[in-house]
Amino acid sequence: MRTTRTRGPADRAERRALPGDREGSYVDPMTTNAEGAHAPVVCDRVGPLMERLLRDAGLTTGMRVLDAGCGRGDVSSMVARLVGPTGLVVGIDRDAGAIEAARERMRAEGHASVELFVGDLLSARSHGAPFDAVVERRVLMYQPDGAAAVRALAECLRPGGIFAFQEADATMIPASSGATPLHDRVIRWAWQTVAREGACTSMGLLLPGLLEAAGLALEGIRAEAVVQTASHRHVTASIVRAILPRIVARGIATEAEVDVETLDARLEHELRATGQAFVSDVAISAWGRRR
Ligand SMILES: C[S@@+](CC[C@H](N)C(=O)[O-])C[C@H]1O[C@@H](n2cnc3c(N)ncnc32)[C@H](O)[C@@H]1O
Repeated sequence: MRTTRTRGPADRAERRALPGDREGSYVDPMTTNAEGAHAPVVCDRVGPLMERLLRDAGLTTGMRVLDAGCGRGDVSSMVARLVGPTGLVVGIDRDAGAIEAARERMRAEGHASVELFVGDLLSARSHGAPFDAVVERRVLMYQPDGAAAVRALAECLRPGGIFAFQEADATMIPASSGATPLHDRVIRWAWQTVAREGACTSMGLLLPGLLEAAGLALEGIRAEAVVQTASHRHVTASIVRAILPRIVARGIATEAEVDVETLDARLEHELRATGQAFVSDVAISAWGRRR
């Protein structure tokens, strides 16, 4: 079986960036639901993409679902709402701190049918497989061998079981309707940071091939973009704040260059003053079944 090393093209990452994860320390800024998540203008524009994928893939009441690389439980929470109290969500993450945060969140949200484990997705089978469905978001991009990871997740499914995977991809961003130099720079900081940490910056477009190589039956693929305007903004400044120590540690930008306290206002001003639309994130969703 061919082994695919899924590290992304570092040269591309020079102009593209994606926030994410690093070894041993959970930070998930792109998918954060932190400050601004419920504000009318600046909000999480990524969460709804995953919720739509889960529904379209066919997740429903009563299913037993594995959430691989569950992090702090954003996706586990969505799945728990879909499968209800008669279903089960099993979340696995290698980061103990993230699992603790996810447990706290599930308690706060009253989800009794969620079980969370510290562990590697390569051994996810030992946590109750076979499952009716396996889901993941922005986890494969951090694997040294994406093909092996997909095969391991496929083996967690019962025959006919559903997979719903979503990965980011930097190939098509940044993009805008005109000059947006600050937005370009900010997105580049984030992508360069995760690329230097070893993440694959083109996992979204690699995903369909990996799924088919693992023998899974692909039923749907789509790309969705987060388009920001002055009146429809994403939590970009919060993302940068969350990963600022990593940006600085990797030598991507200095604290003075980022000037995080004024960043949100400057981003807002750039879009308002220019009237441009800016594409800051592309999510590739793929779903289907185990044969
Ligand atoms: C960017 S976060 C995404 C978290 C969650 N899926 C979400 O969308 O909110 C990536 C997560 O994958 C976890 N992770 C990465 N590689 C893993 C592995 N091999 N086994 C288990 N967890 C892993 C990280 O610890 C981190 O929590």
